[in-house]
Amino acid sequence: MRTLLCFSIFCSFAAAKLSYNGFKVFRIENKGSAEELEQSLSSINSILLSKDPNSEAFDIAVPPDQLQAAHQLGFELNTVIDDLGTVLENEGPFLTYIATEKTQGVAADLPPLSYFDSYHPYDEHIQFLTDLQAAFPNNSDTFSLGPSVEGRELPGIHLWGGTGKGVKPAIVWHGTAHAREWISAPTVEYITYKVIEEYQGEDSEIVSILDNYDFYILPIVNPDGFVYTHESERLWRKNRQTRDSQTCIGTDVNRNWPSHWNVSGGSSPDPCSNTYRGEAPGDTPEIQALVAHMLDLANGPGIKAYIDWHSYGKLILLPYGYNCTALPDNYERQMSVGTGVASAIASVNGLEFRVGPTCTNLYQTAGSSTDWAFDVAGAEFSWLIELRPTAAEGGFVIPPENILPSGAEHWAGVKYMFSQL
Ligand SMILES: *[C@@H]1O[C@H](CO)[C@@H](O)[C@H](O)[C@H]1NC(C)=O
Ligand SMILES: *[C@@H]1O[C@H](CO)[C@@H](O)[C@H](O)[C@H]1NC(C)=O
Ligand SMILES: *[C@@H]1O[C@H](CO)[C@@H](O)[C@H](O)[C@H]1NC(C)=O
Ligand SMILES: [Zn+2]
Repeated sequence: MRTLLCFSIFCSFAAAKLSYNGFKVFRIENKGSAEELEQSLSSINSILLSKDPNSEAFDIAVPPDQLQAAHQLGFELNTVIDDLGTVLENEGPFLTYIATEKTQGVAADLPPLSYFDSYHPYDEHIQFLTDLQAAFPNNSDTFSLGPSVEGRELPGIHLWGGTGKGVKPAIVWHGTAHAREWISAPTVEYITYKVIEEYQGEDSEIVSILDNYDFYILPIVNPDGFVYTHESERLWRKNRQTRDSQTCIGTDVNRNWPSHWNVSGGSSPDPCSNTYRGEAPGDTPEIQALVAHMLDLANGPGIKAYIDWHSYGKLILLPYGYNCTALPDNYERQMSVGTGVASAIASVNGLEFRVGPTCTNLYQTAGSSTDWAFDVAGAEFSWLIELRPTAAEGGFVIPPENILPSGAEHWAGVKYMFSQL
């Protein structure tokens, strides 16, 4: 697929930011093989959004000047979003986040929950983590990994309990590997907030979990891509890495982990593809930083559970992605805990999350975080959660009113997981 450059007349006066006015989102039922379909789609400028695991359907966004060409491809196009520009308007306006008051030597108040009434730019996420730390000064540190391709930090927060930091096995949460999956960072931040709030409130389960595990939480592991979705193209997915003699920009960081990296069918060798794997395993600075961090944990206190938060699709995905017949050796246990997590999620807002191995439940993926975290870093639980909603409900682009409900249902989910560790 070609990179999406400037298509619309709006580009002439809004130099940087791509307008999605008039873009339609279509669902294509996959009549032939996925590869043939992707090949066929590459002849038009469209944005591949997602493959629907239930129906093997593809969701694509098509700009107005490509609509005719899209119809001529010969697939049946079912419209799921009539005007993406209108849907995008419902993401805003952004409410500015104001940093909390701080006094030397005293724990600050927790940040206001109104933070979750809005999406936020990158800097406000960093401020939010800073403020969480200030509210929990004796049991947390902010930290950062990186830098990214463009020199940004991958911001993180480390939480620990009564026995001091860095001693207990790790629970690791990542968000925003894919830049456009905006609901993932605030969902992770919400459940982080809840861990702190309930530890301070002396909730016995949360005190016990934090006394027995350290949390390492990075809500935005692809900061350049994330900033780019705010400033230029809302539906950008990859990082912003350039390659010698390539015009297309960006590597899919969730196809770049150094595990089963080059299994055919699970990623793309084409630098213009949205699932471009890079030129060598782990050749993105973001993945190098995450690998080094997680290997430190694996070789130290060990990693108990890893969750990589994505959207969309309402799925809890276990290893493996690279192979549809291979199963993790503790598959039964991961499946049983995953099923309990899905029930806990459903009990909050009624949303049904499907549980199963990535390859059979979604599609084949090579070089993905969860295969690596399980096989190499030894995480006993290694999951990718695709958050709400489905394509027809907005896909990546859903109003901020979804943030708190998403946070609440996943707080219930992780609490169930905690009860099983
Ligand atoms: C942090 O620990 C210090 C030293 O034990 C103590 O004096 C202080 O009250 C603690 N602060 C909070 C917010 O618990
Ligand atoms: C990846 O696999 C393809 C096809 O099997 C092969 O041609 C290519 O050399 C491999 N690349 C690397 C870097 O291993
Ligand atoms: C997939 O897993 C099966 C069962 O473990 C194995 O026989 C097969 O060789 C694997 N395929 C690849 C491409 O690794
Ligand atoms: Zn994703």
